[in-house]
Amino acid sequence: MLQVKKHSSHLLRLSRRTLAATATAAATASCDEQRQEQMMRRLAEDGWVDEHLLPLLTPVEEAWQPAELLPTFAAPADEHQSQVAELQARAAGLPDDILVCLVGNMVTEEGLPTYMSMANRVAGGSDATGCDDHGWARWLRGWTAEENRHGDLLNRYLYLCGRVDMRQVERTVHHLLRRGMRGITQPSSPHHSLIYGAFQERATFVSHARTAKSAARNGDACLAKICGVIAADEKRHEVAYTRASARAFEADPDGMVRALAAVMRAKVTMPGELMTDGRHERLFDHFSAVAQRSGVYTAADYGDMVEHFVRRWKVAELGADLSGEGRRAQDYVCGLPRKIRRMEELAHDRAAQMEARSVGFSWVFDRPVRIH
Ligand SMILES: [Fe+2]
Ligand SMILES: [Fe+2]
Repeated sequence: MLQVKKHSSHLLRLSRRTLAATATAAATASCDEQRQEQMMRRLAEDGWVDEHLLPLLTPVEEAWQPAELLPTFAAPADEHQSQVAELQARAAGLPDDILVCLVGNMVTEEGLPTYMSMANRVAGGSDATGCDDHGWARWLRGWTAEENRHGDLLNRYLYLCGRVDMRQVERTVHHLLRRGMRGITQPSSPHHSLIYGAFQERATFVSHARTAKSAARNGDACLAKICGVIAADEKRHEVAYTRASARAFEADPDGMVRALAAVMRAKVTMPGELMTDGRHERLFDHFSAVAQRSGVYTAADYGDMVEHFVRRWKVAELGADLSGEGRRAQDYVCGLPRKIRRMEELAHDRAAQMEARSVGFSWVFDRPVRIH
């Protein structure tokens, strides 16, 4: 009986301690959120967003539009037919792995409604009315308008080229929009969102730029140009989120390094992760494996990216004012590129010993495509 009493009072003490620790963590988190929200408001109010981010958007009059890069149906029939025939002749030489990468990238771009609604949940940066006048709201609408051209252009190219099963591609987009995205662990946190934005834009830049090179190598100059102009947009967006993150590092180094570690621990989930064509649940994994194998986007690129941002945001140089947790986050993040490289080498060795494996993709009429 005495022992039971002792045990229950010990449990009571423990649960009080757990409750106290949970309450402290919750208080720190809400304090963090308030600080981040205030930072966002200040950056808009003092004109920082106007001065440093909005000029990175291209004025509408100067921006490319999908119609300029595709056959025009306003031309006389024989002329537009020959433009379409030329596009299809060039696309005829594209290997299936490049088509799969292109479709995967296009489906990801078409998830834009989800990404805009995610970005609009960021505390202190949201567009509450749909036509707010503050800097972050204008940035978000301008960014969305530029991104919207990416899905449009790739979608139309794929439709015209005749190499893919458009119904299956469209169903994948439909599924992805219905499923949404897991994305970041704290969607309302400005710190998390800015860091995630910088990584995503750089990853899409790499992916579109490599697809452009591959298209050129396979004789499709039209597709090379299409992926090239999209990559150039992604680069400007990457500059914007990288710059905003750097500004947040100045304002709140401890909060930012902790946020960076948290985003890295969650493994920067890709926004198209939940895609399916209704037949294959692991479609995203298979698409990623094709991208890895064809060099369009690889694990090594991810390691390079972490290294790039750690250097760009001078994470190793953050010093005296870091908290204990901040220091632990700094150590973790600074050691990460080496860890990712080591894992990548091991995965590479493992893949070299595996037997070749192909998977049928409904996007290319169920033809098998090598995944390793
Ligand atoms: Fe994009
Ligand atoms: Fe982008």
